[in-house]
Amino acid sequence: MATTDHSTNYLCHHGLLLPKLAHSEESIQFSMAFEVQDEDIFAVTYPKSGTTWMQEILPLILNGGDLTPVQTIPNWDRVPWLEETRAALVLGDRPPPRAMVSHWPYHLMPPSFYTSKAKVIYVTRNPKDIAVSSFYFHGMASFLDDPGTFDQFLDKFLSGQVMFGKWTDHVKNWRNTDIEGRILYMTYEEMVQDLRAAVLRMAQFLGQELSPDVLEKVANHCQFNNMKTNIMSNYSLVPQDVLDSSKSPFLRKGTTGDWRNHFNAEQEARFSAIIKKEMEGTSFKFPWDDE
Ligand code: A3P
Repeated sequence: MATTDHSTNYLCHHGLLLPKLAHSEESIQFSMAFEVQDEDIFAVTYPKSGTTWMQEILPLILNGGDLTPVQTIPNWDRVPWLEETRAALVLGDRPPPRAMVSHWPYHLMPPSFYTSKAKVIYVTRNPKDIAVSSFYFHGMASFLDDPGTFDQFLDKFLSGQVMFGKWTDHVKNWRNTDIEGRILYMTYEEMVQDLRAAVLRMAQFLGQELSPDVLEKVANHCQFNNMKTNIMSNYSLVPQDVLDSSKSPFLRKGTTGDWRNHFNAEQEARFSAIIKKEMEGTSFKFPWDDE
């Protein structure tokens, strides 16, 4: 069977750990049977790469900057995860174009996805910053395994013993697709550097014309400090015993390069060597490659 009960906190599906809090055999089946329509839009990410950010940006690009949904609907229902249990509840009668997020690797997308014309925005981020963000997330989320020390967590992260497996597998997998032309590669780093330009790039890819005023409004609303105070996006609606914001806020720092405050020299060398080896033979370049 492709899905097994792995531990108290996780299911294991095709070798990937999925938190039981939000995933079940039924949710996985729902996702596999989901009829993707040509107008549908996915933001795909490895966890901690900017998923919540995309749940804020996408509706605004698609509706011309109307803030109503981002101010009235929690992010997980506004732009649901295809593979999570909420999807069946909120996607059932939603008409296309449906904006969704997913952490699935390319090969686990629903069969209808490959034959559709649905578009994908794949967002990735410096894996060192992802590891730091994920470490804090594991510390505050009661439904994930305890991260242990930062050093222990780095080993778990590098060996893929975290939700959705190895970062390198995810990134390589989504770079080798048959859907050229309907996938846009973005980085968290370019979004931090110039959000307005990043939103414009995404809007153009999605065929949405935004006036300069709307573009400004969307970029402004989606700035970290504004999202941090939006209760529909900052996870403050989730009970403290599930996400303990006294340990770490979900919207924690929202910066690039925070890894420098956490990695020692040995950890940096170990991490870089493993990532470099696993990325051997790939030709894509990332903004953090030469750091
Ligand atoms: P940090 O922990 O480094 O702050 P995901 O939504 O995929 O779980 O990713 C969460 C990370 O994205 C967190 O990173 C969070 O702060 C960051 N993030 C969310 N919204 C952001 C925004 N508007 N600007 C910058 N970073 C944002």
